[in-house]
Amino acid sequence: MKQKVLVVDDDAAILEVLEMRLTAMGFDVVATSDPRKALEATDASRFDLALLDLRMEPTDGMRLMEGLHERQPRLPVLIMTAHGTIQTAVEAVRRGAFDYLTKPFVRDELRSKIARTLATRRWARDRERLLTVGQALASSGVMARVLDSVAQATVEATDADRCVVFQLEQGRLVPMASAGSPPPAWARLEAAASAAMDKGIPITTSGAAEGADGGTIVAAPLVVQRGPAGALVIETAARLEPGDDDLELLALFSSQAAIAIRNTHDLESLKSGAVAALGRMATQVAHEVKNPLAGLRLYVRHLEQHLSKVEDAAGKDLAGKIAVTVDHLASVVAEITAFGRPPELHRVPTALPPLLDECLELARARRPTEGVDIVTAYDPSCPQGRLDARELKKAFLNLILNALEALEGAGRLTVATAYSAATGTVTVTIEDTGPGMTEETLSRAFDLFFTTKPDGTGLGMSIARSVVNLHAGELTVSSRVGEGTRVQARLPLEPVADPARAPGAGA
Ligand SMILES: Nc1ncnc2c1ncn2[C@@H]1O[C@H](COP(=O)(O)OP(=O)(O)OP(=O)(O)O)[C@@H](O)[C@H]1O
Ligand SMILES: [Mg+2]
Repeated sequence: MKQKVLVVDDDAAILEVLEMRLTAMGFDVVATSDPRKALEATDASRFDLALLDLRMEPTDGMRLMEGLHERQPRLPVLIMTAHGTIQTAVEAVRRGAFDYLTKPFVRDELRSKIARTLATRRWARDRERLLTVGQALASSGVMARVLDSVAQATVEATDADRCVVFQLEQGRLVPMASAGSPPPAWARLEAAASAAMDKGIPITTSGAAEGADGGTIVAAPLVVQRGPAGALVIETAARLEPGDDDLELLALFSSQAAIAIRNTHDLESLKSGAVAALGRMATQVAHEVKNPLAGLRLYVRHLEQHLSKVEDAAGKDLAGKIAVTVDHLASVVAEITAFGRPPELHRVPTALPPLLDECLELARARRPTEGVDIVTAYDPSCPQGRLDARELKKAFLNLILNALEALEGAGRLTVATAYSAATGTVTVTIEDTGPGMTEETLSRAFDLFFTTKPDGTGLGMSIARSVVNLHAGELTVSSRVGEGTRVQARLPLEPVADPARAPGAGA
C-alpha cells in the first residue's frame, strides 16, 4: 500500500511542484490550498505525513496542524517556511511539528527530510511502546497484567479504536485483556481471532465489505511453540484503514503477547504456592526496611549539609555517595511495595454502566455462567465521572471474577450502582450468593498474595482496593458463610482536592 501525504499551500505553483515531486517519489498525494479541505481529507482517511505551509490565510500552518492533530494525534507534520521565518518554524517544532523545510527547497532536502520523518517517527513510537511492554514483561509474571499492557500499547501505537487479546483456553477463545473503547460486537472480533489462528498469519476483514457498520478488524495470531495460543485483534473506525505500518506493529506486539503467555505457562508449572510465598516475604521485608531507610536518608542529608558547612570536601563527597546509594535502595523498596499498585491515575470522562458491562462480558467469557443469574441495576441518575477507566476496569473485573469463582456456576450475581448527588459519589455493589468467607478469610482477603484458591495469585482484592483508594474512594466487604459476599466501592465522581477529607480517607 502507498503511503499517503497531505500537502497544503496557498501558493498554486508550489502546490503543483510538490504534488509532482511527491507522486514521483511513490506517495499517494492529496494537495490542496484550502485548509478546510485538508481537515475534511483527514476526517475521511488517514495520512502518513503532512506538509503544511506556515503562512496561509485565514488559517496559518500552525493552527491547521493543531486541527489535524485533533483528528490524527500522531500525524507527523513538516512545516514549510520561507527563509526569513526560521524563528517561527522553530516555534512550530516546539508545538508539535516534526521538522521544518525552508523554501525554496534545496536539492534533496525534501526527499531526505521526508525519509527521516517517516523512519524516525516509527522508530520513536515503537521504541516507547516496546519499552512499556518490556517493563511489564520484566516486572511481573502475572499474565493478565502483561496482556493488559500489550493491549494498551497496541491501541496507543496504532490508530485503532480498541484492542482485545484472546487466549485459547480449553478449546475456547477467551478475551483476556482489552483496551480502548468497548467493542460494539464481540462476535466479529472473536471470528477474526479464530480465523487468524487457523491461518497462522495476520488477517484483515473490512466491516464495509461484510455490510456491518463496524470498522476494519485486523487479527494477528499469538504463536508459541505448541502452535497458536490466541490472537491479538484490533478494530479501527470505519474511516481509518490500517496501514502497512500498523500491520507490522501488530505483528510486533503479538509476538510480545505470545512471550507473555509462554512465560506464564512456564511460571504456572512452578507456582504451587512457592512463588506466592516468596512474593509475600519480599513485600513484608520491604515494609520492614522502608522506615529505617527513610531515617537513614534524612541523617545522610544532614551529614552532607554539616560537612559542607565545615568545608570538609572529601567527607561531603562520601556523604553524597551514601545518599545516592540510600536513594537507590529506597527506590528498590518502593518498587517492591508498589507491586500490584497502579501508578498515577489518568482520568477521563467515564460512564460506569458500559464499563461494568464490559467487565461482565470479559468475566463471563472466562468463567462458566450458564447457571448464574446475572442481574444489573444501574442508577440512571448517575452522571459521568472523571475516573481512570482503565484502572477501574481492572478493579471491577477482579471483583466480578471473584464473585463468579465463588458461585461456581450456580447462584446470583448482582452488579449495581447508586448515585448520591449530595456527596457526588457513586457506590458500585458487586454481590454474589456464593459460599461467603470465613472471618479468617475476610480479615486477610486484602493481603497481597493471600488466596484460598489452588490457582489463585491473591492479587485481585488488593489491586481493586488500591485502585479505589487512589480515587479517594473506599472499598468494603461484608460476607457471611453460607449466604454470600457483598463488595462495595464508594467512589467520588470528581477528583477530591484534599484527599485527607475524602469519603474514603482513614479507611
Ligand atoms: N466473592 C467472594 N466470595 C468468597 N470469597 C472471596 C470472594 N472474593 C474474594 N474472596 C476470597 O478472598 C481471597 C483473595 O481474593 P483475591 O481476588 O485477592 O485473590 P484470588 O481471587 O485468590 O486470586 P487472583 O489473584 O486470581 O484474584 C480469595 O482467594 C477468596 O478466598
Ligand atoms: Mg480474585
